[in-house]
Amino acid sequence: RVHKIAAIGADGIGPEVIAAGLEVLEALSTKDGNFKLEIEHFPWSSEYYLKNGYYIPEGGLETLKKFDAIFFGAVGSQQVPDHVSLWGLRLPIAQGFDQYANVRPARVLPGVKSPLAGGEDIDWVIVRENSEGEYSGNGGRAHRGLPIEVGTEVAIFTRAGVERIHRFAFRLAQKRPAKHLTLVTKSNAQRFGMVMWDEIFAEVAKDYPDVTTDRELVDAMTTRMVLKPKTLDVVVATNLHADILSDLAAALSGSLGIAPTANLNPERQFPSMFEPIHGSAFDITGKGVANPIATFWTAVMMLEHLGEFEPAKKLMKAIEAVTANKVHTPDLGGKASTADVTKAVCEYIAAS
Ligand code: NAI
Ligand code: MG
Repeated sequence: RVHKIAAIGADGIGPEVIAAGLEVLEALSTKDGNFKLEIEHFPWSSEYYLKNGYYIPEGGLETLKKFDAIFFGAVGSQQVPDHVSLWGLRLPIAQGFDQYANVRPARVLPGVKSPLAGGEDIDWVIVRENSEGEYSGNGGRAHRGLPIEVGTEVAIFTRAGVERIHRFAFRLAQKRPAKHLTLVTKSNAQRFGMVMWDEIFAEVAKDYPDVTTDRELVDAMTTRMVLKPKTLDVVVATNLHADILSDLAAALSGSLGIAPTANLNPERQFPSMFEPIHGSAFDITGKGVANPIATFWTAVMMLEHLGEFEPAKKLMKAIEAVTANKVHTPDLGGKASTADVTKAVCEYIAAS
């Protein structure tokens, strides 16, 4: 079995962790012998943008369509405003390929310490609506520079968009032991789109009677995540809300450096994209200390998407063995380098 992967390391520690990720995937493929990954590297990054004036060249998305998956690092540079880099590279891919389901698992890996008392109970999957809502790109600036300067940021929710993410979240919850789904909105203060989210959720819930549900306002949700982590299983929320909650989830599970994500086009009309949730981390770029675990876990999600379930399981086992063994980068309180962690995971795979 051969899978074609587009690798886009992009900025900061992105290329460092993607290189590490490809190294463990290669070790896995060699050991397994039954699957191969054909990797093509794309140089699209902020440096590329500063040279050429664009992140994705003409026809770039067309080229990506031929791949089975996209393995993405991070985009963001101190030389380019963040809204330009994000809208230049990551969002055109996620939105262009209708990767509407952003799946973000959070779990405390063996040997990792959660900052939370009772943090060992964290085992969540946050499902983020990834195609519309607050990140629709709608809005504008008016009266620039005048006394009443106005900036609008319009969240757009469609019935079809909301319904499909709810169905996705219910199907995912069905596959988990706890079969519980929590809906997060802010429908007390936001009376239109958010109320629609609540209504559609209640309608869709009728089709999944085996999944138990509850609701939380997003502000209350932050406290529930900290104070009652055990009461949560799968969470569905809007683009903005889930963006924020999943960074919190990552921190509560030990570090931003371990949290993975999949940007899925569940209907498989287009390739899906797999990336660590962290950004380009300017403060540690080039120092060789970026935690590659988020990217390894991301690779597990990519393998599952490609139907390589056994290799995926094997890689997750290797990751957990290495974290349990306290081969930790500084974000987890250790002294290991990116290369040390990568080597440990590769050796585990080779020996298993
Ligand atoms: P960040 O995730 O890059 O860094 C936040 C903190 O976490 C930093 O202290 C960093 O050193 C640490 N950190 C992140 N990943 C780590 C890892 N693998 N190992 C160890 N420590 C790690 O977020 P920040 O600082 O808000 O953003 C930096 C740039 O990244 C910005 O340009 C931002 O727009 C971009 N960004 C891009 C994302 C993407 O491409 N999907 C996601 C988030 C931010
Ligand atoms: Mg984020």
